[in-house]
This record gives sequence, C-alpha cells and structure tokens, in this order.
Amino acid sequence: MTFSEYLDFIQSNAVAPASASSEPLAPPSAIIGASLPRIDGPLKTTGSAMYASDYNFPRMVYAVPVRSTIAAGKILSVDSAAAKKLPGVLLVLDHSNVPAIFKSGAGGRISESRPPLSDDTVYYWGQYVALVVAETFEQANAAASAVRVSYAASKANVATSLDDPMPAIGAEGGPRVVSHRGDSDAAFAGAPVKVDQVYSTPAETHNPMEMHATVAVWKGDKVTLYESSQGVVNHLNVMAQVLGLPKENIQIISRFIGSGFGGKLFPWPHSALCAVAARQLNRPVKLTLARNMMFSNSGHRPRTQQRLRLGATPDGKLLALQHDYRNSTSLVDNITENCGEATPFLYSTANLRVSSGLVKRNIGSPTPMRGPGAVPGLFALESAMDELAIALKMDPVQLRLGLDTITDESNGKPFSSRHLKECLQIGAEKFGWAKRNPAVGSMRDGDLILGWGVACASWGAGRGVSQAAVTLRDDGTARAGSATQDIGTGTYTIVAQIVSDRTGIPIDKIDVVLGDSSLPPGPMSGGSTATATVIPSVMDAADAAIKVLLGAAISTKGSPFFGKDLATLALTAAHVHIRDQSPDSGVPFEQILKLAKLAGADGEGKSGGYGSDTDGRSFSNHSFGAQFVEVEWDPGIAHLRVSRVVTVIDGGRILNKLPATNQIAGAVVMGVGMALFEETIYDPRNGHAINDNFADYIVPTSADAPQIDVHFLDIPDPKMGHYGARGIGEIGLAGVAPAITAAVYHATGVRVRSLPVRIEDLLTT
Ligand code: MOS
Repeated sequence: MTFSEYLDFIQSNAVAPASASSEPLAPPSAIIGASLPRIDGPLKTTGSAMYASDYNFPRMVYAVPVRSTIAAGKILSVDSAAAKKLPGVLLVLDHSNVPAIFKSGAGGRISESRPPLSDDTVYYWGQYVALVVAETFEQANAAASAVRVSYAASKANVATSLDDPMPAIGAEGGPRVVSHRGDSDAAFAGAPVKVDQVYSTPAETHNPMEMHATVAVWKGDKVTLYESSQGVVNHLNVMAQVLGLPKENIQIISRFIGSGFGGKLFPWPHSALCAVAARQLNRPVKLTLARNMMFSNSGHRPRTQQRLRLGATPDGKLLALQHDYRNSTSLVDNITENCGEATPFLYSTANLRVSSGLVKRNIGSPTPMRGPGAVPGLFALESAMDELAIALKMDPVQLRLGLDTITDESNGKPFSSRHLKECLQIGAEKFGWAKRNPAVGSMRDGDLILGWGVACASWGAGRGVSQAAVTLRDDGTARAGSATQDIGTGTYTIVAQIVSDRTGIPIDKIDVVLGDSSLPPGPMSGGSTATATVIPSVMDAADAAIKVLLGAAISTKGSPFFGKDLATLALTAAHVHIRDQSPDSGVPFEQILKLAKLAGADGEGKSGGYGSDTDGRSFSNHSFGAQFVEVEWDPGIAHLRVSRVVTVIDGGRILNKLPATNQIAGAVVMGVGMALFEETIYDPRNGHAINDNFADYIVPTSADAPQIDVHFLDIPDPKMGHYGARGIGEIGLAGVAPAITAAVYHATGVRVRSLPVRIEDLLTT
C-alpha cells in the first residue's frame, strides 16, 4: 500500500467534514508544545497496564499454531492422532475441519488473500497448517509439536537476489511507471556527470517488544477480541467480514500496545483462528505468537533492489533522475514497498521516472514497516546523491540546498509547509559540518577514523476521518474517548493535552480512554497520521461539551449565569465566566453541573479527512528532515560505531516535546539497526528465517546507540488543522541509514550499497 493509497483508505469512511484547514492556527499555550511525561507512564512502569495477553478469563484455554516446514507444495496428511491423546488437548484444527473463515474485503487487508487453513496448498515456510488448543499453554505447545504433517514439496523460490527476468517497464506483467516527467532517458544519456548504481535492502522483521496476541471471548453470538492492534476499528471491520458477523457483535480491545512498527496495522490470520476455535469450544482462547512465529506469519519489510540513475550538470543541477525498483512479495499477496515515495518531489529536476516492480517469493506476505517505501527508497536515493556530490566534488549539503524546491514538481502543487532547507542549514550548524574535511579517512580522533555523512528525510503528512467524545464531569474531571489506540507513541497524552487546552482542566484530571472499538470510531495508528487525525475530533468534542455546559449555566435556576446569552460566556481555566471578565470571577464548572443535576456535559466530535477540506487537494503535504551522522572506524580492530547523530525534523507543530523527541531518537536507533544490523536471513533451501530470534536477529542495544541530538523546527503546518501538528512516528527513521553509509564511505572509502553494512565490507581498507 502506498502512502497515498493509505490516505484514500483512511478517508473512506463517511464523516461530516469539518473544514479544519479554515481554522486559524491555535496560538501558543502553556499546554501545547510543553514537555509532559506520558500520562500512561505510571501504569506501564508499575506493570499495571493491560496488554492483550495479560487478559485471563475463567475456563480460558490456549491455542498454539503448527507451521509448515516446507516453502511450497501440498499437504498430504495432517496426523493429529498422537497429539489428541496428549493430556489436556481439546481441539486440533486443520484444513479438513476448520470452521468457516471468510475472505476479507478490499482495503482493510487481512494478511492473505487466502483465509488461513483454507486448503492443502503451502505457499511459504511457516504457513499455518494446523491449530492445537489445550487446557494449558504447555500442553498446547507439546501437542503442537506432536502433530505430524506430511507434504509433497515442490520447488520454492526464496532467492535473495531480485534479478528475476521481467518484461520491460510498462509491458504486460512488467514494472509500472508510477511517476514521470520530461524525458529522463534522453536527459540522462546527455548528462555530463552521471551516477548509475544499484542499491539493495534486505528483508527486515518488525520486532516490537510485545508480541502479537489474541484473546477471544464469546458470549452467545458476540465476541470480544483482546488484541495488540494498531487499528481497533479496522480490526473490527475485517473480523466482521472474516467471521461473517455483524459489526455490532464484535468488540476489539487494545488498551496498551508494546509497539508495532506497522506489523500490527492490519489483522493477521492468528486472530481469526483464535476466534473460530473459541467459538467452537465455547471457551475463551488465548493465542500468543512466539517471537519466531513473527518472522514468518506477521509480515516483514520486503527486500528491495533499486537502480538509481542521476544525471547532473557540473555545477550540481539535476538533469535526470531515474529510480527503478523491485520488491519481493509473497505468493498470496501483491504488496508494493513504495520505494519511490519521496523521489518525485524531494529535489528539483525536469526529467524523472520512477518505476515499480514486484518479484514473487515463497515467503510470508510483507507489510508496512515504519516508513514503508520511503525508508528503503531514501537509502537508495540519498546514497546516490552522496555519490553524485563526490563525483561533482561538491559538498553534499550544498548540492542538496541547490536542488530544493517549494513546488512539488510531480504534480505542480505547492507544499503546505516545506522547510527542508532550514533542516539542512540548522543541522549543519549544530553538527559542526563546516569543519568537515571531505577527503576520505582524513578526520581522526586518536586511533579512530571519523566519518561524517548527511542525508535528507521525508515522509507524508496526512489526516483522515475521526470521531471522539468528551465529557466534563461533576467532580471537576473530564473524560475523552476515541476508538484509536496508543501504540506507545503518546496518543493518550496528546488527547489529554487537547482537552486541557480547550477547557483549562489540568492534565491530571483528564481521563483518556482509547483502544476500544465501542468508542466513537477513531483513526488507525499508521502512516504517522493518527495525531493529525484524532486531534480535530477531540477538539470538536470538547467544544461541543463546553456548549452543553454553558447551556446548563444559562438555563439552570440558581446559576449565577441564569438567563444570560450563551455567547457571553466562556470556559477558561476550568471556570465558567463572563467572556470578557477574568476566569477568577466565574465559578468552577463542576458547580454548574451539580446545580443542574447533570453527571456530566457530553460532547460528540467529528472531523473530516484532509481531502474534505475546501483546499485539501491543492497542496502537497509532507514532513521533511535532515540527518547528520558521525561514525568512528577503528581499523586496528575493525570496529565500526555510530557515535553521533544530529537530526532536524520539520514535522509541523510539536504538541509535546518529550514523547516527540523520544519518537525521533528511537527512530534514529532503529536507523542504526537498519544500517548495521537488521536482516532476516531465509534458508535458501526452504525459506525458513534462520535468525528468527533475538539472539540472531540483531537490533541495536544501548551500547550501539549514538549520542542523539533531536531538533524540531516546530513550524505549524497550516493545512493540518487548528493545531498545525503532523504525526512524527516515521520521519525520524527516513534518511538515517544513507547518512550512516555516507559517513562510512567518508571514513573508509568503502561504498556499501547493500544493507546492512558488514565488517567484511570494510576489511578491504
Ligand atoms: Mo506505520 S508502518 O504505518 O505503522
């Protein structure tokens, strides 16, 4: 799914449009832009936050899937006789006896176009071939390993290279041109300075702390699913289709999520299997994916192979830019990793082509992973830009500054807010870039060789439809709710901030309820769109609740405001008062509610997607950033370390600096992992991810984390609504890996075009 397809998807539900773009930008306030700890922090640090697999119920039993040990072929038999004789075993499901699981409709995507256990065909190693349910987890695990499956294996293709023969660009079955302007072939051919290189990125597996889990509890024909989901509403919609149930019979609960990175954006087959097993047994069922299962059954970032051709004038004008890429996908889904996400608009050039092709592999389906498309795409584009700067003998910051544009040249629209130039300039200043000696290996710190690299970042800015509810309560507190969820990024906290900003009620008196599909439908936590999406609906709900409160103030006998015109009143600092007098002259709002015998003043709010704004389609909306990296290379012991990163982010107004800084710093660490460590390695014989555990799939530790300086431009995006805030979950990862490999080149003279950087790559120096 490309970002623009995602935007269409999150705007597809009908909600009366609130033309947020016509709202004036909110003035600065004490609460907006403050540095506030997450309000759910104490629950998490004391272990009382409830994650999906923390839910337990009387008579609950445990499900464990059995996975295929071949990558392609047919199941000949599933022999569960021995498993069924083991203690505590209640049920073994396979394709011969599984209750109906239906296909999901388009859009909300369950992982497979094919429902789980639906037939005897195997498309990838690890595909579910059976499900065992037993009284205890240990019994279910033992029985799962006692299920004997025999196969007729056929030839599988799990090749690492994506050099498969393909029809020409644009031909039937060949790569598609997804963006073009001018004549990039001719312009490249005639360009005096050229870069023409192939870059590749490996499969990466999302490894959130919390593993996928489902607890399914039926009451009659209604089911509650406790999930670890980045989108409770979408999960509900998909499960209604998959289980063949009316939506009102399903409730999805995801109160706390130990992150997801995109892996939990869309529901996976285990959720459906858990639900049908629980229905059949009429007992609650818990199914937790083991970490190794997450390497085969809940998505990954696919491999990419990207050819970049840049043609330039000797003074650094870009004459041609071609970005032709392929990514791997599964046999059961066509998932595009949109590597050309940022290419069409990042730099000014008259001649451009981006093309996109898919290569099928016998591996489970890929899915979005933090900054899908843009992140591997920018590895290629920004690496090529660094190579171009070297070919031109130009400073890579200067080269990029000279190619900046205030118009999105892919569609002719102005950017709603683009400050890439400032990102580069401020970053260079903070990093000390002026002291850089461009000669390879020329900068030293004792025995260490220092390498300095830079790259730009971009990720889309979007806003979908949302609803929310706010209640001002007679005990002086407020409650805000929306069926969105906090995947760890701080959504609970910013919702409380918005309510506090509208009402003056202190943060610690505001309860925020999320992660429950029975609340008014809110956004998915995906594509860095949740913040911009949910805020206008929360604001609308708070304002509606205030109106109800003020209505009570003027209509309740005994109220000091009885009989007044509503327009003359305001709620400020949690006090109802005459608008042009000080809040101190008024009364605490809860006194009005008590007088009116109201438990609370309820407000419902809704807001339309970006596309419903009057001028919503007239601008190009993106976040930008610049990453400056220092690496230390110790040639004596072949040790490479990322020592320092300065990241400057143009992500609209920052609502809360603490979680925002934390998002970007975390993304930088993830970028270190992408550049130096992360790679899912599939056994070339059978497609088994052989490093499917935390010992062998390497992610950065604290010792690998550089010193990170996060700087936000904090310039409101006027097209994102009253608060001018964009989501910032993904932008921080964009550009980190190519800045690191540029720094590695600067230190060692070795250009690594295939991630991750391996020590062997550097031993040539
Ligand atoms: Mo993000 S990959 O849209 O969760």
